[in-house]
Order: sequence, then C-alpha cells, then structure tokens
Amino acid sequence: MTSVDILRTPDELAEAERYTAHNYHPLPVVITEGEGAWVTDVDGRRYLDFLAGYSALNFGHRHPGLIAAAHAQLDRITLTSRAFVHDQFAEFCRSLAELCGKDLVLPMNTGAEAVETAIKVSRKWGYQVKGVPDGQAEIIVAADNFHGRTTTIVSFSTDPDAKADFGPYTPGFVVVPYGDEAALREAITPNTVAVLMEPIQGEAGVLVPPAGYFAAVRALCDEHNVLMVADEIQSGLGRTGRTFAIEHEGVVPDMYVLGKALGGGIVPVSAVAADRDVLGVLKPGEHGSTFGGNPLACAVGGEVVRLLATGEFQRRSAELGEHLHARLNALIGHGVVAVRGRGLWAGVDIDPALLTGRQACERLAERGVLAKDTHGSTIRLAPPLVVTREEIDHAFEQLAAILA
Ligand SMILES: Cc1ncc(COP(=O)(O)O)c(C=O)c1O
Repeated sequence: MTSVDILRTPDELAEAERYTAHNYHPLPVVITEGEGAWVTDVDGRRYLDFLAGYSALNFGHRHPGLIAAAHAQLDRITLTSRAFVHDQFAEFCRSLAELCGKDLVLPMNTGAEAVETAIKVSRKWGYQVKGVPDGQAEIIVAADNFHGRTTTIVSFSTDPDAKADFGPYTPGFVVVPYGDEAALREAITPNTVAVLMEPIQGEAGVLVPPAGYFAAVRALCDEHNVLMVADEIQSGLGRTGRTFAIEHEGVVPDMYVLGKALGGGIVPVSAVAADRDVLGVLKPGEHGSTFGGNPLACAVGGEVVRLLATGEFQRRSAELGEHLHARLNALIGHGVVAVRGRGLWAGVDIDPALLTGRQACERLAERGVLAKDTHGSTIRLAPPLVVTREEIDHAFEQLAAILA
C-alpha cells in the first residue's frame, strides 16, 4: 500500500456506526476475508485472530471440511422445520449424543436459546420428577456468570451493564460466589432443581475454579437430587485441551449446554445433551424452534462432531496451550499481573498502570493481532485451535512489545 491509497476502513466504520444500535464497541478493524487463524481487512492488512469468535471459530476460519459440508448441504436442502424429519437430523443428534456420552440431544440455534432450554428442562424435571411444588423451582448460578442475553438470563447476571434497566426480572435464581463450596451447600433448598455454571468463566476473565470445586458441586447435586448443568458454550468443544472443560475436574454433569463452535463458525448451532430421565420430560408442543436442528445446521454440526471425534483439536489445544501459557507466564512481572486458563484459552491481567484491556487490544490490532478485553485490564486470548506454534510466538511477541 502506498501513501496515496485511500483507506476504506474509516468510511466502513462510520457507516456501520451510523446504521446500527451501539450495543457493541468494536475495534476499528473491518474484516473482509478469513482463512485458518488469519483474517484480512478491507485495506489488505492481515491479522492473527486471537479471539476466534469467542470460541465459535475453534476450527479456524473456513475449515475446508466444514465448508465442504456446508456447500454440499446448500445444494440439497437447507430448511424443513421440525414439522418434518430430514435426513441429516438423526446422524447429527446420534453423533453429538455419543460425543457427550448422553442418551439424547435437543438442538437449538444460539447459546442463549440452549441455556433457556436447560432452564426450562431443569424446571420441568423439578416439578415432574423431583416433586418440587408448582412455581417454586430454584436454580443456583454463580456470581460473575455469563450465559447470554435473554431477559430471563440477564435476570441472574451480576454484571450491571448486562442487567440494569432490563427488568422486571425473572425470579427463581439464587446467586452464589463462584468456587465457594460452603456457599453452594448453604444455598441448596428442597426446591433447588439445578446448579447452572460455566466450568471456566469466560466473560469474567477466564476464571478457573479452585481445584476440587466441581467435584464438590457434583457431590452436593447427588446428595440433594439436583441437576448439575455445565454451560460449555465457550469452554467446550476442544477449547481447553479436552472435549469439555469439565473433564479437567473429573466429573460428568447431568446436562451439557453447547453452542458457538458447534456451528463451525458457519451457522448458529446450539444444543443441550442429557440422559432420557432428564430430557425425556419434554413432550411435543412444549418447546421448540423454527430453525433448531435445520438441515444446514445438522450437516455442519455433524462435521464438527466428526472433527472432534478424531481428538486432534483437543490434542493441539493441550500441547499448544502449554506453550502459550509458558510464554505468557514469563511476562508476569513484565507488564502482566496474572495469567489464567487452560489449553488455548488465556485470561491475561495487564498491569493497570500500563494499559486498560481496551488499550492493549487496540495496540495489538495495530500490530496485527486481534484480541478482546473482558473487564478492566484483562484481555482474553483464544486463537483458533488450528493456530501454529509459530503463529502463537508471533502473537506473543506483539504482546510483549506493547508491554515493553
Ligand atoms: C458461557 C456462555 N454461555 C452462553 C453464551 C451465549 O451464547 P450466544 O451469544 O450464542 O447466545 C455465551 C456467549 O458468549 C457464553 O460464553
């Protein structure tokens, strides 16, 4: 590019601002193409994508197998509604149930819809199976959670930005501090139907719970006949070096809530997975979605499950994640205060005296690395699992440079 070239980015940014609600504050980058771990902007600049669509792009941009599955399906049929069965449905549901080690799955579209599904199923299970009095079901959640944006879900958010002025709020949720076993024990009542938590809290800054916490959650749920529901929408499907982040804790939840990477970065695909005694409480007409489980979603989601069944992505995340964390940990005391996470997922607390998270992400973008701040001076790194060691080193060098 020469100095006489006119950049398209400023105009594109201004147009986007002009015609949209300001519910996001994007970095000043206008992307036009992507491949693997890289994206290119409208002015031809290339960036390493270290956000990966908040883990929706675990397999990278335009993974060839996923694109081929989408193309093949686009040429056959894309939508039937669940009023009819289509030929991609059974195989997707069977393979996903098998990946989860559960009897049944219920496909939806966005993560928030899958969380809503988990809430509805837990409540119905509570009334029909556990025998909780009508209208009394309680679900325990963690402080600093992020489970989506619906009015019910923000009702139990502790983030004022996500919650304020969106009331009246849905009752039936009890918030306990994340990682505090005693507080959870205290909060359980005979009306508790579920404990809904993220195995690692992504939006909160990639917070890893204390060792043994989820084993204690599992034991308390068993003791009190309460469903343990793991929101693996951001943490699952290879991100932490295992298929599910909860595997690191050595426990199996009663229900998995999945989304993001399940759609391969191509279509929104989400699902819950549980055994028949739980998901079987739903009868025809009680829950659904026009687009949930559509042929295109199932074709892409089925290919995602096949990719995960090879174990390659979990292995890459574990091995390269060790490298990423070793390098990041070496920055502690050199502009970094703390590093958390597992696999190719890291929350990095930058010294607030140096930069806010937003400033750090702006400087990184100027150096060709895209990342996202969470709160304060924390940034989140979550590259696609196809990233190479050399690309990690390149991104790391840019981070070290902005902190120097
Ligand atoms: C843990 C978790 N749950 C739920 C959601 C909501 O997913 P969606 O934005 O697809 O509705 C997210 C999104 O960031 C998430 O990280």
